[in-house]
Amino acid sequence: MPGRSPRPVDNGVWFAPGRANLMGEHTDYNDGFVLPFALAQGTTVTAARRDDRVLSVISRQRPGLPVEVPLDGLAPGAVDGWAAYPAGVAWALAAAGYEIPGATLAFDSDVPPGAGLSSSAALECATALALAGLARIDVPRPELATITRRAENEFAGVPSGIMDQSASLRCQAGHALLLDCQSLETTQVPFSAQLLIINTRASHQLAEGEYGARRRECEEAARELSVPTLRSITSCGITATLSDPVLRRRARHVCTDNARVLRTVDLLRDGKYAEVGELLTQSHESLRDDFEVSWPEADVAVEASLGAGAYGARMIGGGFGGSVLVLLGEAAPGVGPGAGVSTGAEHRVRAAVKHAFAARSFAIPEFLAAHPSAGARRLR
Ligand code: GLA
Repeated sequence: MPGRSPRPVDNGVWFAPGRANLMGEHTDYNDGFVLPFALAQGTTVTAARRDDRVLSVISRQRPGLPVEVPLDGLAPGAVDGWAAYPAGVAWALAAAGYEIPGATLAFDSDVPPGAGLSSSAALECATALALAGLARIDVPRPELATITRRAENEFAGVPSGIMDQSASLRCQAGHALLLDCQSLETTQVPFSAQLLIINTRASHQLAEGEYGARRRECEEAARELSVPTLRSITSCGITATLSDPVLRRRARHVCTDNARVLRTVDLLRDGKYAEVGELLTQSHESLRDDFEVSWPEADVAVEASLGAGAYGARMIGGGFGGSVLVLLGEAAPGVGPGAGVSTGAEHRVRAAVKHAFAARSFAIPEFLAAHPSAGARRLR
């Protein structure tokens, strides 16, 4: 265009979504199965290459000056706060042997933080795509998931599994992603339903210590059962042989939730959404009673949703705060991304949950749309 200098080819805009998980909670770090889907909500990053070996990051959600991180000599412990996530990705890409240039990254996100919808994975995966794009390198998505997880585990110090980054990077629109967390093989499972996310707004301060404790319990149970990981248990009855009642419950949850993932895939293929709903509710009960990671607001949200006629509902994510996923029913014609339609079932559930929360003086819940959406990508 006359009078306008062309946009430098190296600069661009990338997007990575948050996720909800249909089935398979606390199964990923046990080498099991998960079935997440990408949300339409996510993190957008506007990125520009720079020549001074500095990573400069700024976020609309964190007002303040940009955080400037020298790339040379970058190591875990060098950066804290939210900037540890993008800096960790630059570190992990370099540690995997990729040459990453200096960059200015400006983030914006509509994934609520602390809601168990993987706002940090969205931040990491958007960063990874932007840095790889600026460097003009093509990193396979499974490897990118491993790199971004390493950033979260080793640089940001959060001991999570591989689900969230895989979901953000590998999901497809209109599908849930069956991920085998041992082989990292994936299958796209067509999935279109009426869904609702309830952000219970409960803080999850305890979450990190409890998450680490659950991981250790699962490892101990696997040791006692003489299997490499709980994934190797195919008959859940064997968990009854564990002498410690706590380990028995933890292992039973992991085994039954793995089975529920595979059953859910079969039911989705047959279009049996009411039965998928029943499995969702069973998974919630297992997370509440056996794995003991639910919280009062989640239990109330599930109960109220079921009372209002939902097919099923369960807490999602690590637990102790965050969101509940509600399966309202089969996909209704005209209800989809951007359709702006909410159905009678959704109105009934929202009203019942609001009422139940008010009766217990809980915080006012936030309702979010949940449409199985595309994974991370370049926008411009
Ligand atoms: C968090 C972690 C995931 C997974 C879930 C529980 O979201 O980041 O890796 O372990 O908890 O399923």
